[in-house]
Amino acid sequence: MKFKDLGRWLEEPIEGVPALGNRRLNAVRGFFARLTTPLIPDDYLHLVNPLWSARELRGRVVNVRPETADSATLVIKPGWGFRFDYKAGQFVGIGLHVDGRWHWRSYSLVSPPSQEEGVISIAVKAMPEGYLSSHLVGGVRAGTIVRLAAPQGDFTLPEPPPEKILFITAGSGITPVISMLRTLTRRGEHPDIAHVHSARRAGEVMFREELAEYERSPHYRVHLQLTAEAGKFSPAQLDDHFPDWREREVWACGPQALLDAVEAHLTAEGRGDHLHVERFTIDRSAHAGQGGTVRFRRSGKSITIDGATTVLEAGEKAGVQMPFGCRMGICHTCVAEIQDGFLRDLRSGREAGPGERVKTCVSSAAGDCSIEL
Ligand SMILES: Cc1cc2nc3c(=O)[nH]c(=O)nc-3n(C[C@H](O)[C@H](O)[C@H](O)COP(=O)(O)OP(=O)(O)OC[C@H]3O[C@@H](n4cnc5c(N)ncnc54)[C@H](O)[C@@H]3O)c2cc1C
Ligand code: FES
Repeated sequence: MKFKDLGRWLEEPIEGVPALGNRRLNAVRGFFARLTTPLIPDDYLHLVNPLWSARELRGRVVNVRPETADSATLVIKPGWGFRFDYKAGQFVGIGLHVDGRWHWRSYSLVSPPSQEEGVISIAVKAMPEGYLSSHLVGGVRAGTIVRLAAPQGDFTLPEPPPEKILFITAGSGITPVISMLRTLTRRGEHPDIAHVHSARRAGEVMFREELAEYERSPHYRVHLQLTAEAGKFSPAQLDDHFPDWREREVWACGPQALLDAVEAHLTAEGRGDHLHVERFTIDRSAHAGQGGTVRFRRSGKSITIDGATTVLEAGEKAGVQMPFGCRMGICHTCVAEIQDGFLRDLRSGREAGPGERVKTCVSSAAGDCSIEL
């Protein structure tokens, strides 16, 4: 092999890790990845610096800052290979090693994209009965190494942004929007923004002081719906708070019930085409199946699950190498073919059978079944 070819071979992208703009860094990462494949894991690099990995994105938690009693901002310094050219509103995958296994979840980036600062932030609200969010809010210390999946997602503003915007958010659903507000502010862009945000009480409003700061600007108005006193926000109230809302492009993120109501209202008002929605969770109880034993044909493993557990979670529990991205039916990374039996889509209740390809992250077993993985 000539020296030139060797260089090209070393610089070739490594599976699952986006190439860097810098050729030298690519070559160094390529060298270590290829040198240590397949006999020895790339923990040689890990020994020198836990953030260096030729095959996966990693990050170190550098700060955990409380936002409210049950939420916190985590500042993370990504290692090699992380690209800071993401868009405000996108999310990252975070993998955390807890109780002897890696757990993955998606979190919207709240930091505006910036290579110079070299860090990213997410803001997590601990969910009652939630496994990882409580740990991230209350149990993660600075110095913890996490795995990262590259930023992705379409819940973003166009460039340039529309002249008139309506944000509708609730709870932790404010996170992608705070990233948009921070990015617009940093860029000196000032569209006319109306914002409805819901939280139970004033003390539970994430980024409350920051919203008050934005309100000093003539370009931003917020209606805070404190649901413990005022009840849940109904989209019919839009006419009271922002009578010009029909002129606005709408971005909405929050609990399923709110998003369903917003979708129905805007569609009824002929504004459905102007709505952009980001869903963080699925209501597992609405369309849960009867459960069953899931067989993973290629890996020869099987596990019995209830009708609210997803096949992705089942495979991970059984020790199957499961592909995934958003874990919420957004990105298609987790698609697999059903070999036998039926799976039920937890979002719609639709059942799919042999030969059909389904998203394992939002599908559960409707009786015994087997899939290709
Ligand atoms: C694109 C995207 C962006 C996101 N951004 C953010 C963000 O910025 N901030 C944020 O706080 N969150 C965000 N989330 C949500 C986040 O990914 C997690 O889902 C959330 O933190 C809960 O994780 P958990 O491990 O605590 O809960 P889990 O343990 O995953 O449980 C979630 C809920 O499902 C229920 N549940 C779990 N398993 C079962 C079962 N087998 N049967 C019945 N019920 C069950 C739990 O009781 C709980 O109510 C985002 C999600 C997506 C998809
Ligand atoms: S992991 Fe993204 S659609 Fe399933």
